[in-house]
Amino acid sequence: MTNRAPVKLAIVGGNRGASFLNALYSLSNRIELTATCDLNEWVLKQWKEKFPRIRTYRDYDEMLKDPSIDAVFILSPMHLHAAQSIAALKAGKHVLSEVIAVQSEEEAWALIETVEQTGLKYMMSENYCFSRSNLTVKHMAEMGMFGEITYLEGGYIHELRHLIHDPEGSLTWRGRLHRELNGVNYPTHAIGPIAQWLGASQPAGDRLRAVSAFASPSRSLQLYFRESFGSEHPAAREGYWRQGDSAVATVRTEQGVLMTLRVDWTSVRPHNKTHFVLQGTKGAYLSARHPGEEDLVWFRGLSPTNEEDGSERWEPLSRYQPEFDHPKWRTWGKFASQTKHGGGDFLVLEEFISAIQEDRAPLVDVYDAVAWSSIFFLSMASVEADGAPVPIPDFRTGVRTK
Ligand SMILES: NC(=O)c1ccc[n+]([C@@H]2O[C@H](COP(=O)([O-])OP(=O)(O)OC[C@H]3O[C@@H](n4cnc5c(N)ncnc54)[C@H](O)[C@@H]3O)[C@@H](O)[C@H]2O)c1
Repeated sequence: MTNRAPVKLAIVGGNRGASFLNALYSLSNRIELTATCDLNEWVLKQWKEKFPRIRTYRDYDEMLKDPSIDAVFILSPMHLHAAQSIAALKAGKHVLSEVIAVQSEEEAWALIETVEQTGLKYMMSENYCFSRSNLTVKHMAEMGMFGEITYLEGGYIHELRHLIHDPEGSLTWRGRLHRELNGVNYPTHAIGPIAQWLGASQPAGDRLRAVSAFASPSRSLQLYFRESFGSEHPAAREGYWRQGDSAVATVRTEQGVLMTLRVDWTSVRPHNKTHFVLQGTKGAYLSARHPGEEDLVWFRGLSPTNEEDGSERWEPLSRYQPEFDHPKWRTWGKFASQTKHGGGDFLVLEEFISAIQEDRAPLVDVYDAVAWSSIFFLSMASVEADGAPVPIPDFRTGVRTK
């Protein structure tokens, strides 16, 4: 049943929330921004200046008592997402949560149970699934253009050392993550899009089955803190950081498909904007890694060959656009292209609002959210066990591994 009444939305965590301003303006006939919650008064002031009619809250639980709020968009630090999502659902609000959704298996089951019990909409805001390129590849996979998919690769390789600390050198939530844990600590940008491609190409379904992970030595942060804050800073000392610079995981699915994931947000290098690979029996995809490259595809019997020797040749994905653009992009591309992350920052919000208004499951539902996020804690268990494979619970059917 479609209900086109505007969704009364609250933004929680106004820093990343500001990335959605363009999307909020474009969707202003479907979203009524009603409240903002943040611990920081300055952040609240910025929002109040842009949206004078909104209510502002420093206390999240207080905000949840506000009966006029239909839905919350949670963009607070990562370790708060699960508890804040569960509290919002229990207070009767739909939830859109920034990545990642959960940081432990206990949180994963608790989130699923709450979504199932309340019957409210829950979506993880995995914007990399909604970039124009990733949606086109998904659409092509759905149409069978790659044949049977056998191998996938996803990476989140983004130097963000300046976000590890505040100006005085104290650790932020990202810093504490690197200090305390070791594994694929930000998995959903890497696994989300490729898991969706696999799902799109397999009508009979598949699921993540096991993960094996390793991490490189931890060097970059130590060196960075020595250079930025001096060799007496505790974080410049040997052994301070647990997280390796690069963490790599191999995921095997029930049907035997392989996925390689890499996460690295501390090694020094220019931004690897996207990093995806798809290999199928009839075609392949290689994403552009930086602004100087193009997304490339190859389709057996369709792509041109080299004139000199008839050998196979990659061709730009853009040659297949707009013809093979995903329907989402065809409908919303004009607005999406004005937002970051390849348009994903518009489309996640649009998809969430549509799921509420059309009373249907969102494209990244709670089962996807926890399965993809589970690589966080399961890869850490594998790193701890010297790369031993760790089973991934079947979150959709409720089969636990412990
Ligand atoms: N999908 C993406 O592309 C993308 C990009 C950047 C950040 N993120 C995600 O967005 C989230 C926020 O990242 P960030 O870089 O803005 O972090 P940040 O630390 O810069 O900002 C977090 C904000 O949340 C507020 N906050 C902290 N605790 C709170 C609480 N209990 N209640 C309400 N507000 C609280 C802080 O005051 C701050 O304004 C993270 O989960 C991160 O993973 C996603």
